[in-house]
Amino acid sequence: MEYAERRERLMAKIGKGTAIFRSAPMAVMHNDVEYNFRQDSDFFYLTGFNEAEAVAVLAPHHEAHRFILFVQPKDLEKETWTGYRVGVEAAKERFGADEVYAIAELDEKLPQYLEKADRIYYRFGRDKAFNDRILRHWQRLLATYPKKGYGPIALEDLAPILHPMRQVKSPAELELMRTAAAIAVDAHNRARDFAQPGRYEYEVQAEIEHTFGLRGTVPAYPSIVASGANACVLHYTENTRQMQSGDLLLIDAGCSYQYYNSDITRTFPISGKFTAEQQAIYEIVLRAQLAAIAEVHPGNPYKQNHDAAVRVIVEGLLDLGLLQGDIEEIIKEEKYKPFYMHRTGHWLGLDVHDVGVYQHGETPHNLEPGQVLTVEPGIYISSYIKPVEGQPEVDPRWHGIGIRIEDDVLVTATGHEILTAGVPKAIP
Ligand code: GLY
Ligand code: MN
Ligand code: MN
Repeated sequence: MEYAERRERLMAKIGKGTAIFRSAPMAVMHNDVEYNFRQDSDFFYLTGFNEAEAVAVLAPHHEAHRFILFVQPKDLEKETWTGYRVGVEAAKERFGADEVYAIAELDEKLPQYLEKADRIYYRFGRDKAFNDRILRHWQRLLATYPKKGYGPIALEDLAPILHPMRQVKSPAELELMRTAAAIAVDAHNRARDFAQPGRYEYEVQAEIEHTFGLRGTVPAYPSIVASGANACVLHYTENTRQMQSGDLLLIDAGCSYQYYNSDITRTFPISGKFTAEQQAIYEIVLRAQLAAIAEVHPGNPYKQNHDAAVRVIVEGLLDLGLLQGDIEEIIKEEKYKPFYMHRTGHWLGLDVHDVGVYQHGETPHNLEPGQVLTVEPGIYISSYIKPVEGQPEVDPRWHGIGIRIEDDVLVTATGHEILTAGVPKAIP
């Protein structure tokens, strides 16, 4: 992979600054059992290094070392319990660092890479103790500034510099994303064949995640297998209900392949045939999704795809009598929100909700080739839905219908490519 090239690009942007990256922490599942480790995405993007308790430093102005790693040293006794470590010697060679130290030496070795920098780039993480450690280093250097006349006088967040890089995917990254998409496509198609009345939602989840596991991936997020009214709960992950004939089944599941994610939702009738109400809502969501995808084109403002989806959804709900009044006013005052309360998508990449801005204050963010986003409109009509004032009560025949359709879409030079088109969504 192109980690060195990414570091060079970043270093060209930070000039005389020094950037510090912390690996992800180990997360506790219960008592002394931990979740599988998953590296912090910024850290991984720049190093490819996949261990906890590590720090990476980029110091482009330093005379001797520009890329420095702090890692856990080899310790065969500990590794017997907690797994293989690359160690200090091998890390230099394997990860291309100019210098590698044991993580225990961080406080002693770090100042030499900060003292002549004009600023420190650091993203505050969830570990307050580590944030404080970086602040203490900075404070010490600020104290010596008057005597020396140089040193880091500012602490700056890296997001505005690093995240636009992550937002535009390289051909190598796109290869990984295509693989993640293809595996999730297969998983969804198998799940659709497998799902039938009488089965439990968790069985469908197991079928999906079986495909993920067989193909060397892990779920990108907790899989949502929501039958019937459960589909109206956006983050339903209990997956415990027994599915009934006549239900719709909403499956929102994606996988992570070598750290790159896919994110697909399909909703279909479990016994093969929509009711009239289900079909009416499904047709609106599908039209909304196609209209939104049509707006994915380089140069178009990001938000245009959401606006297109909202318009189609409002038109559809007006036609069905689920909304009433002037379309422009309903859109402007967001009176559709009891039915459609989320955005139409997000960036996708190393994080499922990937980094990068969606707009620059009042200025739109225009799409660029290489960006990948999800397009995922939905309509949700729970039995407890509360229409806004002046809107009609919902007839109970609509209750319990929840539909979302989600694809992963790459912005290309001439338009877009749907990476997840292999899962059918047309009404048969
Ligand atoms: N499954 C998470 C999302 O669709 O954003
Ligand atoms: Mn999703
Ligand atoms: Mn999504």
